[in-house]
Amino acid sequence: MMINFYQIKNFIRHYFAAKRNGHGVHSPFAYKLCEEVFYNNNHFYAFDDLKKVRAELLINSTELLIEDLGAGSKTFTSNKRKVNDIARKGISTVKQSEIFYKLINFLNCNIIIELGTSIGLNTLYLSNANKTGKIISIEGSKSLSDFAIKLAKEKEANNIEFINSNFNTALPEILDKLNTLDLLYVDGNHTYEATLNYFKLAIKKKHNNSVFIFDDIYWSPEMTKAWEEIQKHPTVTLSIDTFNFGLIFFREEIKEKVHFKFYL
Ligand SMILES: C[S@@+](CC[C@H](N)C(=O)[O-])C[C@H]1O[C@@H](n2cnc3c(N)ncnc32)[C@H](O)[C@@H]1O
Repeated sequence: MMINFYQIKNFIRHYFAAKRNGHGVHSPFAYKLCEEVFYNNNHFYAFDDLKKVRAELLINSTELLIEDLGAGSKTFTSNKRKVNDIARKGISTVKQSEIFYKLINFLNCNIIIELGTSIGLNTLYLSNANKTGKIISIEGSKSLSDFAIKLAKEKEANNIEFINSNFNTALPEILDKLNTLDLLYVDGNHTYEATLNYFKLAIKKKHNNSVFIFDDIYWSPEMTKAWEEIQKHPTVTLSIDTFNFGLIFFREEIKEKVHFKFYL
């Protein structure tokens, strides 16, 4: 991702304010998250295979013609993009995808929605984290969605439903059909209105153990504003800011709203 002044300024603030390795984290649930998810260095066998998939994508020079339905890209200028460029600059890092994998394991998430499939590598992490779970991944660009479908087929990831549509229309339709939602990952259309809208739609299906993840919360002032508003929502009891993404929890056993910044 290309870095702008707003992000640098906020990264410096985060660097000095954030907690490390669970030190000073007094909430038992947040501490457990540090141990089991954020600073858990255990080796998961699936990570070896997923790293191989990333290596394959990093040398794939196939050109895709992409229609961008979101708030635009700060990284790409042309709408023709090579798979290896997207794999290098436009998708979740190894560290981030591995954290999502550990989070799904820890919370035992079964019903997962990803907004923004891109080339589908992060989707494979979500899929591998719970092979009996169901992943619904939405992508507006047809060429990206087709690419991700093919990749998932090749890697025998059979628990993913890919939807090629705009989040704005697909998300309410999908949520209508679900009883509950365990994990929502919002990683596209980084505007204030869209981000808050996806949150407000999805909270109708949240439960005590749900987690919502918002990517790029320091992408722009309006994304930070959306993140801060989400944190303040009365249903939210715990929020965790890792700089690159923020997590939102609704656990009723946490009686006093808590907010943490973690340095990963
Ligand atoms: C940053 S990428 C997703 C990366 C992926 N989730 C990962 O972790 O590697 C964001 C994707 O969202 C898609 N997108 C943005 N706005 C959209 C919208 N309103 N509807 C559907 N897709 C959208 C873009 O086409 C892009 O592929």
